[in-house]
Parts: sequence; structure tokens; C-alpha cells
Amino acid sequence: MRSMVDESHLFLKPALHRHAVCVDATLGHGKDTAFFLSEGVQKVFAFEIQENILQNTMKKLEDPKVQAFCQGHETMDTLIFEPIDAMIFNFGYCPQEDPSICTQADTSVMAIQKGLKLLKRKGRMALVLYPHPSGKEEAKCIEKYVQSLSASLYTVVQYKQLNKEDSPYLIGIEKKEGYHE
Ligand SMILES: C[S@@+](CC[C@H](N)C(=O)[O-])C[C@H]1O[C@@H](n2cnc3c(N)ncnc32)[C@H](O)[C@@H]1O
Repeated sequence: MRSMVDESHLFLKPALHRHAVCVDATLGHGKDTAFFLSEGVQKVFAFEIQENILQNTMKKLEDPKVQAFCQGHETMDTLIFEPIDAMIFNFGYCPQEDPSICTQADTSVMAIQKGLKLLKRKGRMALVLYPHPSGKEEAKCIEKYVQSLSASLYTVVQYKQLNKEDSPYLIGIEKKEGYHE
């Protein structure tokens, strides 16, 4: 079976093309940004609050198509002023790094809200959630928020392993063709 990260990439694929503008809202070690680049997209905006991780990942990626900000993703509306084709959030903490620095329910929901505003019609957003003890409350808040989205404006789906408690899962969102404010 594919991992939830691989599933999130498969979910985003239909929204990617050579003019696509993407957002990696949680850069970390750059796996999701590397995926966008491998699909030949035009540009990736990336967010990461840990300066050392951001610097190391940018050095590793070495690609002028990536514009990274050492700022919380909840501020994306102050930095991005163009419509977005695809966006990914990989919540929680960065593997092999300080587990106490992780995404938080309130800023995560705020960032998803802002991200959805930036998304193009037919644009897609992938949310990879980790409902382990520290991420459970965050996952609950995010689910509550996305369940409240209008079904006439967004399609919201979930992909989850049902026979293993607390395993990571994917929420996929597509902004509908006929979306209007
Ligand atoms: C699960 S990791 C991301 C993994 C990453 N996609 C990869 O391929 O390695 C989550 C990352 O989000 C970062 N983070 C936490 N809060 C954030 C925020 N408000 N805005 C942006 N990044 C944040 C953490 O520092 C951590 O590196």
C-alpha cells in the first residue's frame, strides 16, 4: 500500500501542470516541494517556521522555482497574491527534529481558510493529518472546519485506514468549477 503522503500526492496530481503555482504550507525536509518540482510545475511557495530546517532544505532542493518564507502558513495571505492550483499541509512535527515544534489547531485552521480563498476553481488542497496524542485535538478541529464547508462550493473527501486507531489520514478538498463568493 502507498503511504498517506504518497496518496496526498496522487490526489493533487490532476491539478498540476507546467504553469501550476503551488503551496507547500509545511516545508520541513521538502518531500512535498520535491514532489511538486518533479511534476514540472511553474512555482512553489513554501512555509516553514524553523529557520535551520528551511535553510537546510532549500540548500538541498537548490531550485529557483521555490520561494520559501520563514513565517507561519497562517500569514500566507500577506505574501501570496496569485491564484493557487495546488496546496499541501503535512501537519504535526518534522521527523528527526524537535517534536515540541509542531503545527497548532488554531493557526492550522486559519491557514486552511486562507488557503481555500487563494485556491483556483478546480484547484486542490491536500491535508495529511496525524491523530496521535499530540495531534488529535488539531485533527478534530480541522475535521470540524472542513465539514462546515459548503458542498456546493467544495468537494471534501477523506482517505483513512479504518482498522488501525490513530493512523495518519488524508483529507482532500477541491474547489468546485462553479465556485463563486
Ligand atoms: C510534518 S512536518 C512537514 C514535513 C514535510 N512536508 C517534509 O516533507 O518533510 C511539519 C512542519 O511544519 C512546520 N510548522 C509548524 N507550524 C508551522 C506554521 N504555523 N507554519 C509553517 N510551518 C509550520 C514544522 O516546523 C515542521 O517542520
